[in-house]
Amino acid sequence: MQGTYTTRAAIVADAPFLWEMLWQAAAVSPDVREMGRERALALPSIRRYLDNWGRPGDAAVVAVPAEGACLGAAWYRLFPATAPGYGFVAEDIPELGIGVSPEARGEGVGSALLEELKATAQAQGFAALSLSVDRENPARRLYERHGFQDAGVSAPSDSSVTLLTRL
Ligand SMILES: CC(C)(COP(=O)(O)OP(=O)(O)OC[C@H]1O[C@@H](n2cnc3c(N)ncnc32)[C@H](O)[C@@H]1OP(=O)(O)O)[C@@H](O)C(=O)NCCC(=O)NCCS
Repeated sequence: MQGTYTTRAAIVADAPFLWEMLWQAAAVSPDVREMGRERALALPSIRRYLDNWGRPGDAAVVAVPAEGACLGAAWYRLFPATAPGYGFVAEDIPELGIGVSPEARGEGVGSALLEELKATAQAQGFAALSLSVDRENPARRLYERHGFQDAGVSAPSDSSVTLLTRL
């Protein structure tokens, strides 16, 4: 059990932790996991989610226990149609990423982060959030519980599906 924790907006000093959570999220793919952390995070297709963090439209939240290291993070960023992320829907709809430390999973941290980040997006005036998830990833159930639905932009043959939640 993780005990009590709170969620808060990420600060500059949280950037290394965000990168660690990006690795955790990317490593769901066996190919990426095999590549190792350093090589994976150097790939343009992965690092574009956090590169030069702090651009207009970027936001992140972290879950922090009473003592010790962060437990998880969720963030979003806008992408241009000319260089879309995997879960791209529109230029004014940010794409969400999330990761929770392996030892903290399954205890509600991801749910708390999703709700906090949705509230942040709403406060910033965004109409929706999107994300890409492997069709077989159990995280899809979590997203659906938090209002995400098939955005209708993924080919049925894709191993991943893009989900969207309206805010
Ligand atoms: C997905 C993830 C962020 C959810 O955070 P969490 O704190 O474990 O989530 P919660 O405890 O709030 O909710 C539990 C739900 O998360 C999902 N989940 C739990 N453990 C998981 C795991 N190891 N991998 C993927 N999803 C998991 C399931 O949907 C679960 O719901 P269920 O009990 O109905 O199956 C976290 O498990 C994780 O980092 N997993 C690995 C990376 C990943 O899959 N990232 C998403 C890529 S799109």
